[in-house]
Amino acid sequence: MEDPARQAALDVLAAVRARDAYANLALPSLLRQRGVTGRDAALATELCYGTCRAQGLLDAVLGRCMDRSLSEVDGELLDALRLGSYQLLRTRVPPHAAVGTTVDLVRAARGNAASGFVNAVLRRVAEQDEQAWVQVVAPAFDDDPVGHLAMAHPHPRWIAQAFADALDGDLEELAKALAADDARPLVHLMARPGQISAAELATAVGGTPAPYSPYGVHLAEGGDPGDLAPVRQHLAQVQDEGSQLVALALAGTPLDGPDARWLDLCAGPGGKAALLGALATSCGATVDAVEKAEHRARLVEQACTGLPVTVHVADGRNSGLPDRAYDRVLVDAPCTGLGALRRRPEVRWRRQANEVAGLVRLQRELLVAALRLVRPGGVVAYVTCSPHPDETVGVLAEVIRRTRAEQIDAGPAFPGVPGRGGGPPVQLWPHRHGTDAMFCALLQR
Ligand SMILES: C[S@@+](CC[C@H](N)C(=O)[O-])C[C@H]1O[C@@H](n2cnc3c(N)ncnc32)[C@H](O)[C@@H]1O
Repeated sequence: MEDPARQAALDVLAAVRARDAYANLALPSLLRQRGVTGRDAALATELCYGTCRAQGLLDAVLGRCMDRSLSEVDGELLDALRLGSYQLLRTRVPPHAAVGTTVDLVRAARGNAASGFVNAVLRRVAEQDEQAWVQVVAPAFDDDPVGHLAMAHPHPRWIAQAFADALDGDLEELAKALAADDARPLVHLMARPGQISAAELATAVGGTPAPYSPYGVHLAEGGDPGDLAPVRQHLAQVQDEGSQLVALALAGTPLDGPDARWLDLCAGPGGKAALLGALATSCGATVDAVEKAEHRARLVEQACTGLPVTVHVADGRNSGLPDRAYDRVLVDAPCTGLGALRRRPEVRWRRQANEVAGLVRLQRELLVAALRLVRPGGVVAYVTCSPHPDETVGVLAEVIRRTRAEQIDAGPAFPGVPGRGGGPPVQLWPHRHGTDAMFCALLQR
């Protein structure tokens, strides 16, 4: 293959577009299958993920460079146009190489007429740089600052608006939050409590201890974490530091009375259940883990092998578990996942604003169920991997109104973590904390 990196990027873009593939799963597997390694693998990753992330801006620019609408362009040619324009606008690949390599790929697959079209469009894209194109295709900052930033740091406008609302309209922070979704995130590991310390894990994998989680390690760029010996030996697992912090917040909140029964009401695939299980071991507690999807419940069982965790395949809203029985309950609710966009390159363009309302209903019902299952004086952590206010403070306000549960200040449960927001819940952010944008509120009844 003449250009294995670009060919792999292009093939994965096609799979994302046509088959709803996840780029961060499809690309590593394709690279392995084709034996693409080293610099070619790094280039394929940068081009594929970068093109996915920037799609909104690329499409707006491409729309100005052709005399037909994008919806009339053949899917495979659109993939190539996006790949070429990404290189032109957002990489240091010299323009002649960005255009030439893309045209070569198209000519080989589709012949001269198609490659001529791609060549002509990309030459027009190359006439201006990214900044200049943003001024052309984005609304003016003064008229519509959120719309402008959403185009400059490519995100759908409704997501940028949700971030802006969560940041109390602070536009400088909004720009940083949107930009953070463009950065390639480090892989975070969790050193299983009682099995290996974060310092030992960091030494074993050549990483660095995380700034906030006592069990966290940040890996240096590159490599498959699944190949690391401590991960293969189940001493450590891949887990964002923010996910560790919210589980630790639940486990670390001081309680009066018994502290023996913990519950994870939305447990699949089991990352937080495994951390809770390991912490429960050290204090003689047990964990019930509920997951609605059978296959995800099996993943929880695998993640929690050897830990005092019992997995139940059930709907958390009506699990059949005893009311008022649990000392600590985690509701890590199904959500839009807008807090982890940096880890899933194409997801921002796939999510739709109209999905939020249904999730909010489910989130409310799960939280109400959790408040039934917790004992008086016990604690419920309501967690989302999304900063969307409807999914966070909106759900809380409605549930507190209906149940008269009390919210307690979550801040002290995140010791040493700066910039947690105005409380009582805590909102983490990639641009502030280097974590996914996890939200955590603590409730008691
Ligand atoms: C955000 S994920 C949980 C992640 C998990 N706590 C972890 O750390 O690995 C939400 C999970 O809730 C599950 N789920 C969705 N609806 C549910 C319901 N009604 N009852 C229980 N689980 C549900 C989903 O299948 C998904 O696995």
